[in-house]
Amino acid sequence: MKLPWHCLAFVPLVVTSAVPRKPTSPDCSTIATSINLASYNTCFLNATYHAANSINISDTTNSVPFCEVYSSISYGRNNNDTLVSALWLPDPEDYAERFMAVGNGGMAGVIDTANMLTQLNSGLGFAVAGGDGGHAAADNNGGGGEPGVYIPYLHDADQVEAWIHDAIALFTPMARETTAAYYGQAPQHSFYDGCSTGGAQGFALAQYHPDLFDGIVAGSPGNWYSHLALSFLWNAQQTNTSKRNLTQDVLEFVTNAVLDACDTLDGVADRLIENPLRCKFDIQSLACESEGLSTSGNNTCLTKPQLAASEAIYSGPVRSDNAKPLYPGFSLGSETEWALQEGPLAEAFSIPILQNLVYDDLDYDSDTFNWASDVGDVNRRAGKHIDEISPDLSAFRDAGGRIIVTQGWADPFNAALWPIEHLHRIEKAMGGDVSEWFELFMIPGGGHCGAASGYPSVPATYHTVAPLVKWVEDEKKPKQIRSTAAPDGSDVTRKLCPWPQTAKYTGGDEGDWKNYVCK
Ligand SMILES: *[C@@H]1O[C@H](CO)[C@@H](O)[C@H](O)[C@H]1NC(C)=O
Ligand SMILES: *[C@@H]1O[C@H](CO)[C@@H](O)[C@H](O)[C@H]1NC(C)=O
Ligand SMILES: *[C@@H]1O[C@H](CO)[C@@H](O)[C@H](O)[C@H]1NC(C)=O
Ligand SMILES: *[C@@H]1O[C@H](CO)[C@@H](O)[C@H](O)[C@H]1NC(C)=O
Ligand SMILES: *[C@@H]1O[C@H](CO)[C@@H](O)[C@H](O)[C@H]1NC(C)=O
Ligand SMILES: *[C@@H]1O[C@H](CO)[C@@H](O)[C@H](O)[C@H]1NC(C)=O
Repeated sequence: MKLPWHCLAFVPLVVTSAVPRKPTSPDCSTIATSINLASYNTCFLNATYHAANSINISDTTNSVPFCEVYSSISYGRNNNDTLVSALWLPDPEDYAERFMAVGNGGMAGVIDTANMLTQLNSGLGFAVAGGDGGHAAADNNGGGGEPGVYIPYLHDADQVEAWIHDAIALFTPMARETTAAYYGQAPQHSFYDGCSTGGAQGFALAQYHPDLFDGIVAGSPGNWYSHLALSFLWNAQQTNTSKRNLTQDVLEFVTNAVLDACDTLDGVADRLIENPLRCKFDIQSLACESEGLSTSGNNTCLTKPQLAASEAIYSGPVRSDNAKPLYPGFSLGSETEWALQEGPLAEAFSIPILQNLVYDDLDYDSDTFNWASDVGDVNRRAGKHIDEISPDLSAFRDAGGRIIVTQGWADPFNAALWPIEHLHRIEKAMGGDVSEWFELFMIPGGGHCGAASGYPSVPATYHTVAPLVKWVEDEKKPKQIRSTAAPDGSDVTRKLCPWPQTAKYTGGDEGDWKNYVCK
């Protein structure tokens, strides 16, 4: 068998087994010989058979035994870039002829084994695959961006393109073929689940690889990545003086005032706003009566600079020449985690992207960013390669694809309004209602891919995958989605509704999702 050249750089296949393998086929130890590797630019790295409950990721263990196969795939114009992928194959009795791929977070560079485990344990019978996004975190500052630091993958055009646009598509055909060979039975349906950067990768699949997946979950999608990065920079700049800085006590004061004004609009007094767009709160109502008053520690009012900073974050970045919006702003009730927007996210993403990808100059000073003339640089040098915001997803629709998007209203990374705006753009481009194949679920009090710290009693696990499987396989469109597992341990369930529907309380236990209807 002829292996791709890059396999030579790796140690040959090692097969280990924590427990005696089942004598029956399929056999984890012979999997490397099961497919024509060269045709997938792949070399297998190793295979390990794991007994049930033998791996433990963040206190969750595998409920079923599985064969774990690591492979490396070469890609890029010179075929010298490398993507490492993992494939988890449960025993045949736990396989329901379904394939699931998971995405990455942030700057990628690691395989999201925690999500792979969630999918393996779902009871849905998935063979589960994941990849590192086409570059290793270990070679890229540990996977984190930082001002003034060289981030190698952002200087390799093929790795940039792989990161979001192609990362999942690069390993999926090989992983599916391996799955088919292992069971002697190809997956009948293919699903994808990712959040944040993984949500962007989900949109990349729908836009650039519309035939690969039958069903996609795209959570908190950063699919307008270049402008998401601009929004981080904007919010950082708008708060980057001691006078405009919004301290945690000020932020909590604002959220409390917003909740006082709008909590009960939805008929339930639960310190949660079902639909922030209905809330007509004006931050100016919190203005200090006399200027120069300090709010620190007192939480009674906001100074003019604090009001201006808050308004800038609610509005989102705009061009300095014509005031056109560059990305939506944050929603009422999301304030408690804005500290992330006041510098940390700009330092982790925006400044590294400007310095490495857009301007190729580690000394580039982001304070000099021109909010009119430099936007085009960001669009051309970053957006073209890392965004996936086409409003025309007809190829995906025509291939029979279904997509579920989730977005928390209190997400401190992604402005909650972006997925709504993108949905409107899609509806406009595709002639109206798209709910036959595209559903957006907005999550009251939801954070970034889970809980928002300001809303600890809001269930933060959204059960999207099982309804997606039903939608794809039985043509049963999800009318609602259940969420469970509040971080504070409270025994509350909630009903998430396909936007623009929201959950209306019908009486009884307010903490029981059954006592709400989507309207
Ligand atoms: C298999 O390869 C992966 C990727 O290189 C590595 O992280 C893992 O430790 C290897 N596992 C074994 C059992 O050698
Ligand atoms: C998982 O590992 C951690 C750390 O080693 C341990 O404390 C925990 O008990 C393990 N959980 C399970 C379910 O085995
Ligand atoms: C791949 O090859 C090109 C051209 O020879 C080179 O510029 C680039 O640095 C190589 N990339 C890697 C990851 O080795
Ligand atoms: C804003 O406040 C935070 C926390 O209170 C502090 O860490 C940060 O340095 C301040 N930033 C500015 C620009 O004053
Ligand atoms: C904040 O509280 C301190 C101490 O109670 C008080 O001296 C100060 O005047 C208060 N400031 C405002 C703006 O109310
Ligand atoms: C905040 O301002 C300081 C001082 O001008 C600057 O060095 C820093 O880059 C700014 N941070 C952001 C995130 O804009």
